[in-house]
Amino acid sequence: MANHKKDADLHSDENSDQELDRRTFMGTTGGLLAALASGGLAANSVQAHATGVHNSVDDVIRVGLVGCGGRGTGAATNALNVEPRVRIVAMGDLFMDRVENSRQNLLDGDHGDRIQVSEEMMFSGFDNYENVIKNCDVVILASTPHFRPQQIEKAVEEGVHVFAEKPIATDSIGVAKVRAACEKAKEKNLTVVSGLCYRYQKSKQETIDRIHDGSIGDIINLQCTYNTGELWYNGRKDDWTDMEYQIRNWYYYNWLSGDHITEQSIHSIDKIMWAMKDVPPKKCTASGGRSRRTEEKWGDIYDHFNCVFEWETGEKLFHSCRQWSGADGNVSDFVYGTRGTAAIQANKISGEVNWRYKGSGEDLDMYDAEWAELFKSFKGERPLINDGEYMCNSTLVSIMGRMSAYTGKSLTWEQVSGSQLDLCPPSYEFGAAPEVVIPKPGSTEFI
Ligand SMILES: NC(=O)c1ccc[n+]([C@@H]2O[C@H](COP(=O)([O-])OP(=O)(O)OC[C@H]3O[C@@H](n4cnc5c(N)ncnc54)[C@H](O)[C@@H]3O)[C@@H](O)[C@H]2O)c1
Repeated sequence: MANHKKDADLHSDENSDQELDRRTFMGTTGGLLAALASGGLAANSVQAHATGVHNSVDDVIRVGLVGCGGRGTGAATNALNVEPRVRIVAMGDLFMDRVENSRQNLLDGDHGDRIQVSEEMMFSGFDNYENVIKNCDVVILASTPHFRPQQIEKAVEEGVHVFAEKPIATDSIGVAKVRAACEKAKEKNLTVVSGLCYRYQKSKQETIDRIHDGSIGDIINLQCTYNTGELWYNGRKDDWTDMEYQIRNWYYYNWLSGDHITEQSIHSIDKIMWAMKDVPPKKCTASGGRSRRTEEKWGDIYDHFNCVFEWETGEKLFHSCRQWSGADGNVSDFVYGTRGTAAIQANKISGEVNWRYKGSGEDLDMYDAEWAELFKSFKGERPLINDGEYMCNSTLVSIMGRMSAYTGKSLTWEQVSGSQLDLCPPSYEFGAAPEVVIPKPGSTEFI
């Protein structure tokens, strides 16, 4: 069993070698030793941070998974792909059948020998995340988005490094909690990597660098589109309570998913925010509705949104997203400047400068790349990664678009940041579910 002392305690002088937390060894000592060997750190600074070093290439890195769906299973595989020391040691989901299914998939995969999840380390129920977090060094948080704030808070409290899928919350209160937890993570030297994966894709990094270097001049306007088809529906079983039914079909309930603008098109919004150096827009005016999602089974979310975001400095973002099967799909994002245009998704610049990313043939898949960087940060081989600010800002921009469309009101960043709308149900138990109320612009109030 792991020692669960907080890192802040562990760095204090009275800690003996034996008490030093395993996560502290594994997360910092490799890099500190490397830095010492290369003359990059004074010996006393190593002593201050890493008394009792026993890190070696044979030490395993215990990874836990919370949310055993498609992405969670995929993220566990990405972690295994890039780091031979990884063992998957604990898994949790609200539902045991999801844990069993994911565990079997991992056992049948390329790294089956490193799936070391005993029955005692398979957790279900609303407290599953607490048990997983207590038993790992790095946790993958890939459940339904609503639960992310409580999970991130717990991981940081326990001194566990975090990989957090997008979005990180479904309301502003949740975003504020994650922001505070990410600040604490910095104090505790904990890595926080976001699942906003394009930030780790080499082609996007190069394209955004060129925007920032002035290849298209000053930014005038921006546009992004996330038009896709419809998604899955898991039906209903007789023995499911209303709460289980909603969570099994989480995508269609705003309290659980944040609606598709937050759950899906956040990827495009995030690329735009990156191009805008993560400065949030000052205002949003949006519309949206349900043209195809008219049946009860589609819960309360919309199927299309159109938003105009405006920055203090005058730039405007025109964003649209929809989920209509049979209609044309389009995922693209453009930045229009005084000297040219960047097509971010296409990795291309045109105008006075003409450039297209060609790749080296050796670029890591972006889902592997985020894990490669996470482990470098964990081992101290690069500066600590804390993606907290942008994952919170991009989530909140998407919530801003949703709230403006739901209410029919133009909303400012300050209003949305301070929104008191709390989408948490009165209690987390399998029984009644939150009432389904479809938002109506003009009468739904901004809270
Ligand atoms: N970065 C990406 O490209 C990418 C791709 C796919 C999904 N995602 C994100 O990953 C998350 C999961 O998506 P998915 O496609 O894997 O969905 P999924 O439905 O396949 O998996 C979600 C899992 O979370 C479980 N769950 C629900 N409540 C839980 C709780 N309180 N604790 C633990 N588990 C709980 C569900 O039972 C389910 O097994 C979403 O936030 C989604 O946006 C990101």
